[in-house]
Amino acid sequence: MVILVANCISYDGHMSVLPIYTYGAPVLRKKARPVKQVTDEIVKLVVDMFETMHKANGIGLAANQVGSPVRVIVIDVSEMEEMKDVKPLTLINPQIVHQTGMWVMEEGCLSIPEVRDDVERAESITLRYKDSNFHDLELEVGGMLARVILHEIDHLNGVLFIDHLSPEKKKIHADRLKQIQRGEMEVSYPVTTAVDVTV
Ligand code: NI
Repeated sequence: MVILVANCISYDGHMSVLPIYTYGAPVLRKKARPVKQVTDEIVKLVVDMFETMHKANGIGLAANQVGSPVRVIVIDVSEMEEMKDVKPLTLINPQIVHQTGMWVMEEGCLSIPEVRDDVERAESITLRYKDSNFHDLELEVGGMLARVILHEIDHLNGVLFIDHLSPEKKKIHADRLKQIQRGEMEVSYPVTTAVDVTV
């Protein structure tokens, strides 16, 4: 069976749900390296990332989050009513070339289960990236989609949404963050915790 994923990748191999690395895992703090070419390995990573993100009911996922520090992001916001016509996106080596405006919205992250808080981000962005065929593309987006892209690009730079919070606000989440670091969490998707990777 050939499966068509975002940007027309064709893939006839097996798809896997990968464990998502959670808060405290060192790979989440690593700056991901640029992709030089789309190898079979990268295609497999993209396909598995879509599978993993859908399984976890996420709308965006960065490769760091599945333990591969390369500059690859997958996004699918089509489950959200107001964005049901937005096609899934694979962003390779994404770069923000322009951003304007600021707005605040509550965010969460599959790597930081049950923690949510307001984050200020640009309202609209211009983005350069390569698609899964390694073609150069430019995209201008705003609102929620821009927010998801900025959140995921942060991941590629080793930055988490909680890093944007004030020290006071971060304190509110301190206990929960410690629990996650100790691997104390109940989630509906497979995870690799900090304890799993440091032992
Ligand atoms: Ni995230």
